[in-house]
Amino acid sequence: MGVWVFYDEEPHSVIEIEVTSQTIAPVTLNHYRPPSMIVDCPPEPSSPTVTPQATIAAPIDAPATGIAHPFVKWVGGKRGIIQTLLDHLPLGSPDYPVIDRYYEPFTGGGALFFALQQRRQFQQVCLSDINADLITAYRVIQSDPDALISALGCHAQNHGKSYYYAIRQQHTLTDPIARAARLLYLNRTCYNGLYRVNRRGEFNVPMGRYKNPNIVQAENLRACHHVLQGVTIEHHPFDQITPPHHSPCLIYFDPPYHPNEDGSFTSYSKQGFTAADQTRLRDLARDLHERGHYVMLSNSNADLIRELYATPPFRIFEIHAPRLVNCKSNQRQAVGEVLITTYPVRKLR
Ligand SMILES: C[S@@+](CC[C@H](N)C(=O)[O-])C[C@H]1O[C@@H](n2cnc3c(N)ncnc32)[C@H](O)[C@@H]1O
Repeated sequence: MGVWVFYDEEPHSVIEIEVTSQTIAPVTLNHYRPPSMIVDCPPEPSSPTVTPQATIAAPIDAPATGIAHPFVKWVGGKRGIIQTLLDHLPLGSPDYPVIDRYYEPFTGGGALFFALQQRRQFQQVCLSDINADLITAYRVIQSDPDALISALGCHAQNHGKSYYYAIRQQHTLTDPIARAARLLYLNRTCYNGLYRVNRRGEFNVPMGRYKNPNIVQAENLRACHHVLQGVTIEHHPFDQITPPHHSPCLIYFDPPYHPNEDGSFTSYSKQGFTAADQTRLRDLARDLHERGHYVMLSNSNADLIRELYATPPFRIFEIHAPRLVNCKSNQRQAVGEVLITTYPVRKLR
């Protein structure tokens, strides 16, 4: 025991590694050279087994037991404030019309989608996100969870430091099952479950320190498979959603938050999410409201956000989220958040 060395493939990338008082000093950052050999995993099949636009799945033998939960840890995930979100939805009160269609254009881990699936059935659900690997994982779970479970079993068997960095290096996989398994494996073993990419769009989070990461989680994947049946899953930016004109839809926007002054995490994608994007999102939300849809949005309680949504049809609710989005332990604090709706909120409880 003496020196701890943390590796990253990019010599100058900014890697925020939590160094606690228990960590042995000094810490050295080195350029990582991936190992040439990966043990035991089958090669990537030559032809993809999942079609890019597949939305309806083939049945699988193993029945789902249990309730479906988000299958990834996601920065900005909403599991911790689900009840607050549910309390602000235009559902369950006679003051609202019947809303049969649900859109979530920044799906991420889909915490609200999974929570709603336990409570009600929509006629149509459309999930989308700009993250191609994530959308591939949703589609694979929808169509072939058993193949994913067995690929994850292979990752679990081989898991270790050099294996993690070798898998992280595989930025150009084309087989959907291999891509989905890589995303879930890295998500379950990387530092803090972060998803962060460099300017080339390559995942660059270092390995986390878990004694026994739960890599496969077969039961939850099967439960997710069942609730994803009939759901439309699309890979595109938020402004390409097309809710129908003829009936009111519920649309929940959970974009990357506009940063507070605390350096909050925002780099989900190589494009980032700028103030101009926040303004385009506000304009889209107003437009959807004018077309008769019901819109709820989450964001940080930042000056820009309060200004953008200061006037009707928007209503702003301050909420206190016990979630922490800064990698630096000394800068972690509860995030000031707002919920914004285009409709009056009727509290049922
Ligand atoms: C705050 S997270 C959503 C978290 C999610 N609600 C949950 O419960 O896990 C934001 C998501 O927006 C996606 N995203 C970022 N920019 C986007 C864009 N321009 N269009 C669509 N999705 C985008 C990211 O990939 C990320 O999954």
